[in-house]
Amino acid sequence: MLENRKNSPVRLKVSHLDKVFGEGGKAVVALQDVNLEIRQSEFVMIVGPSGCGKTTLINIIGGLEQHTSGEVLLDGKVINGAGADRGMVFQGYSLFPWLTVLKNVEFGLKMKGIPGPDREMTARKYIRLVGLEGFENALPKQLSGGMKQRAAIARTLANEPEILLMDEPFGALDAQTRVVMQELLADIRRKTDTTILFITHDIDEAVLLGDRIYVMSRRPGSVRDMLDVNLPGERNHNSLVLPEFLEIKKQIMDMLWQESNDAAMGR
Ligand SMILES: Nc1ncnc2c1ncn2[C@@H]1O[C@H](COP(=O)(O)OP(=O)(O)OP(=O)(O)O)[C@@H](O)[C@H]1O
Ligand SMILES: [Mg+2]
Repeated sequence: MLENRKNSPVRLKVSHLDKVFGEGGKAVVALQDVNLEIRQSEFVMIVGPSGCGKTTLINIIGGLEQHTSGEVLLDGKVINGAGADRGMVFQGYSLFPWLTVLKNVEFGLKMKGIPGPDREMTARKYIRLVGLEGFENALPKQLSGGMKQRAAIARTLANEPEILLMDEPFGALDAQTRVVMQELLADIRRKTDTTILFITHDIDEAVLLGDRIYVMSRRPGSVRDMLDVNLPGERNHNSLVLPEFLEIKKQIMDMLWQESNDAAMGR
């Protein structure tokens, strides 16, 4: 499967991307010469030290932030602002509190002008996919954190984006719910073949979900390494103790340790 993806077309390409916040003496170089690419149906993870520019990078890809120089191409075209071709899921739940789960999931489809019965059918399909059947008429305040994030994922998937951009989507969940959500996402991915770029602090999460992992350096952020993840069998909580899993985890821990040690030593 992974081998096949290596021959799949490149969907997203980030080339020589720089981002500087502010000007003059107060300028902060957040990203410096970031290069990466994601192929059709790949699940690509980015890990890196806090403050290395991960959110900045995904916001630029999502069109929520302007870059300073370099290029972001989706299917060979320069991205220009936000667009329905890129679906974003954030750490916060970002649901409309006054709308039911069904209306939240339908929202993007309504904006696109899709007629009522069609959008309800699509919304119900994705609500089922994330395991929220029976909660269509609930309001966000009636849901647990994990359920809110399921609804947010359904809402993004319902728009059928070309690529799903996720910035620490499970960061606010407790450890147990997080594993359940990771398995859910692995399952959604198997069923939909969605192309996903996923940012996390959590090395276990990166190795559990990713086909490939980009490890970023500390700020100014750039890509310091790229690892392929080849694990036997289906990805689920049992994968967390496989020798292959622990080997990749150790490699990444060493890289991130080196980044923070170099920072502490002023290198
Ligand atoms: N709007 C902004 N104005 C000025 N500086 C900013 C802005 N947004 C981010 N930065 C700076 O850019 C750098 C990268 O921030 P960013 O939020 O992208 O990091 P991150 O890798 O997502 O961190 P974390 O892992 O803590 O979420 C930081 O030094 C931050 O202070
Ligand atoms: Mg961040």
